[in-house]
Amino acid sequence: MTVLVTGAAGYIGSVVAERLIEHGHAVAALDDLSQGHRAAVPGGAGFFEGDLRDRRRLAEVMAAVRPDAVVHLAAEALVGESVTDPAKFFEVNVTGGLNLLDAMRAADVRRLVFSSTAAVYGEPEEVPIREDARLRPVNAYGASKLAFEQALPWYASAYGLSHISLRYFNACGATAARGEHHVPETHLIAILLEVALGLRPDIRIFGDDYDTPDGTCIRDYVHVGDIADAHLLALDRIDRIESDAFNLGNGTGFSNGEVVEAARRVTGHPIPAIAADRRAGDPARLVASADRARDVLGWSPLFPGLDEMIATAWAWRKDRLRPYSG
Ligand SMILES: NC(=O)c1ccc[n+]([C@@H]2O[C@H](COP(=O)([O-])OP(=O)(O)OC[C@H]3O[C@@H](n4cnc5c(N)ncnc54)[C@H](O)[C@@H]3O)[C@@H](O)[C@H]2O)c1
Repeated sequence: MTVLVTGAAGYIGSVVAERLIEHGHAVAALDDLSQGHRAAVPGGAGFFEGDLRDRRRLAEVMAAVRPDAVVHLAAEALVGESVTDPAKFFEVNVTGGLNLLDAMRAADVRRLVFSSTAAVYGEPEEVPIREDARLRPVNAYGASKLAFEQALPWYASAYGLSHISLRYFNACGATAARGEHHVPETHLIAILLEVALGLRPDIRIFGDDYDTPDGTCIRDYVHVGDIADAHLLALDRIDRIESDAFNLGNGTGFSNGEVVEAARRVTGHPIPAIAADRRAGDPARLVASADRARDVLGWSPLFPGLDEMIATAWAWRKDRLRPYSG
C-alpha cells in the first residue's frame, strides 16, 4: 500500500512510518514540524511539510501522493495545555482533522486509521476500560479527539470511508533508531530518563493519596513498537472488518511509584522523586481492556513488561542528550 502518515515526524508517527516501510509499504509523511523532528522521519519516506489547517496544502499532498490509506497521528497532544488553550486543540484536532477527511474525499481515499486516546473516556466507571464504556472526557484534548472520532461513522455512511480508531493508553519505549523526545516533555517515563541523564534534578509525582496500593496513579503503558504493529494489522484488515474503535493497552496498570522504581532499576540512577499535589482531572486508574484489539485485529503486544519497555527507551536515549539535533 501507499500510506500517508500525518504526524510522522513525531514520536509515535515516526515509529509507525518505520514499521510500515519495514513491511514493504510506501510511506509519505506529512508534518508541520511544530512538535516533531525532521530527522525522525525515516529516510525511505517522502516528506511533505504542511499544516492540517492548510486545506490547499492538504489537497496538493493528497494529489501528489495518491495514498491507498491515511494513518492520522498529527495532533495537538499536551493535555495540560488543552485546558488553558482549548481553541488550538479544537482547531487542529477537529477542524484540521475534518480538512484531512475532505482532502481524502476529494481524492477518493477511503481508508483511515486514526490515533485516538484513552482520554476520550475521562474518569472511568469501571476498570479495565472497554470500548463501550461511557465517553466523557475531562479535558479539551480528549474532547477534541472524541469529536473527530464521532464524525467518522457519518463519513462512512455518506461517503464510504472505512475507519479504525486506535485508542492508545500511555505510549512508551523506543526502537533502535527512534524514541520519545518532546519539548516540553510531559510523559512520565521520558522525564524519568531525563533525570537519569542529569538534564533535570528530580521528578514530581502528582498525588500520593489516591485509592491505589501505593497512593499514586495507575496507568497502562504500551510499547510504541506494539502500537505501530497495531497500525499494520489495522491496515491489513480494514477492508474486511467493520469500522470501529480499539483500545491499545496491556491491561496491566503500573503505579507512578512502580514506574519510578523500574526506571531506577533500569538506569542504575537514584532518580529523586518529590511528592506534589494532585493535578485536576487525573483519574486514579486508567487501564485498558484490549480484548477487542486482540480478538478482531489479532494484536498481541511483544513488550508488555515495564522494565523491558523502559529498557528500550533507555537504550535509545542514554547516548543521545539531544536526540534528533544532528
Ligand atoms: N504519546 C502518547 O502516550 C499518546 C497516547 C494516546 C494518544 N496519542 C496520540 O498519538 C498521536 C501521536 O502522539 P505523539 O506522542 O507521537 O505526539 P507528537 O507530538 O510527538 O507527534 C505529533 C506530530 O504531529 C505534528 N503536528 C501537530 N500539529 C500539526 C498540524 N497542525 N499539522 C501537521 N502536523 C502537526 C507535530 O509536529 C508532531 O510531529 C497524537 O495524535 C496523540 O494524540 C499519544
